[in-house]
Amino acid sequence: GWKMEDILEKELKVIKETVGPDNHVICALSGGVDSTVAATLVYKAIGDRLHCAFVDNGLLRYKERERVMETFDRDLHLPVTCIDATDQFLSKLKGVTEPEKKRKVIGNEFICIFDAFARDLEKKLGKKPAYLVQGTLYPDVIESCPPPGSGRTHSHTIKSHHNVGGLPKDMKLKLIEPLKLLFKDEVRELGRIMGVPVSFLKRHPFPGPGLAVRVPGDVTEGNRLDILRKADEIFIQAIKDAGIYDSIWQAFAVFMPVLTVGVQGDQRTHSYAIALRAVTSHDGMTADWYYFDYKFLADLSTRICNEVQGVNRVLLDITSKPPATIEWE
Ligand code: XMP
Repeated sequence: GWKMEDILEKELKVIKETVGPDNHVICALSGGVDSTVAATLVYKAIGDRLHCAFVDNGLLRYKERERVMETFDRDLHLPVTCIDATDQFLSKLKGVTEPEKKRKVIGNEFICIFDAFARDLEKKLGKKPAYLVQGTLYPDVIESCPPPGSGRTHSHTIKSHHNVGGLPKDMKLKLIEPLKLLFKDEVRELGRIMGVPVSFLKRHPFPGPGLAVRVPGDVTEGNRLDILRKADEIFIQAIKDAGIYDSIWQAFAVFMPVLTVGVQGDQRTHSYAIALRAVTSHDGMTADWYYFDYKFLADLSTRICNEVQGVNRVLLDITSKPPATIEWE
C-alpha cells in the first residue's frame, strides 16, 4: 500500500543511511509548511545532529516570529536558532523600489546570514556540516526545470522565486530533499502523522520575500510595515472568525503607498489606503478573486480604518490571475 506511515518509515531509513552516524545537517526554516515538515522528518531520523535556523528578516507578519517559534518549540520540540536580522535586511532595502531588485537583495542577504550561521556552527562542532535540508516539493522540481514539451509555464520568467537552489556555493553542502517526490497534500498528511498541528499545516502560503512584495515601493519608509501588519492581522482574523479561511488559497492585505483625503471624527485626514487580496486557486498558477459577503467587507473596512492609525481607505482587489499575479510584486 501507498500509506503515509510506510512513506514515513522509508524516508527515515533513507535519511539515516544518507547522513550516516557522524555527519551534521543544517536547515533554514521559513515558518512555512514544507520546510517545517522536512525538518521534523530529519529531526526524527538524526535527532540533534540537525541544526535549524529561523531568520527574522523584518518582513514577517504580525507576531509571526513568536508564533512559529512557539510551534517549533511547544508542538514539535524542534531546537531552532532564531536569528533577528531585521536591521540588516531593512538597511539593505532602503531606497530599493524595483520588485525584482527587492527579491535579489532579500535573497542575497538571506544567503549571507545563513552562511554566517553555518560557519558559527562549524566552529562549535569543529567540523563542517555536511548536508542541507530543503523542503522542495515535486511541483517545485518540475516548475524550476519543466520537462521539455510538458507545457508547464516557467514561473521564473515572470518572477524570480528563490526557494530552489540559492545556497552559498563554497559551502559545498550536499542536499537532502525528503519531500522531493511528494505533492502538497501528501506533505500535509506526512506532517499530520508526525504531530505537526493541523492549523499550522493549513496555513496559507507566504512568499519568501515576505511583506516586501506587499508594499509597492520602498518598504522602509515611515511605518509602512507596521500599518500593513496591523491591517493584515485584522483581515486574517476576520476570515478565520467567519469560518472561511480553508476555502481561500491565500488572503492578505497590501499597503498602498498613496495618500488620500478622509474625514475621521471631525478631522480631515491625509492617510494611506489598504487593499485586501483574497484568491481561490489549486496550485497558485492561476487564481480567481474570492467573493466575500458584503456585510463582512463593510465591517472589515470600518474596523481597519478605526483600528489602524494611518489608514483612511480600504480597497478590494477584484483581479484574477491572469492578468494579475497573486502578490502585488
Ligand atoms: P504570484 O504572485 O506569482 O504567486 O501569482 C504565486 C504563488 O507564489 C508565491 N510567491 C512566492 N513564494 N518566493 C516564494 O517563496 C517568492 O519570491 C514568491 N513570489 C510569489 C505567492 O505568494 C503565491 O502563493
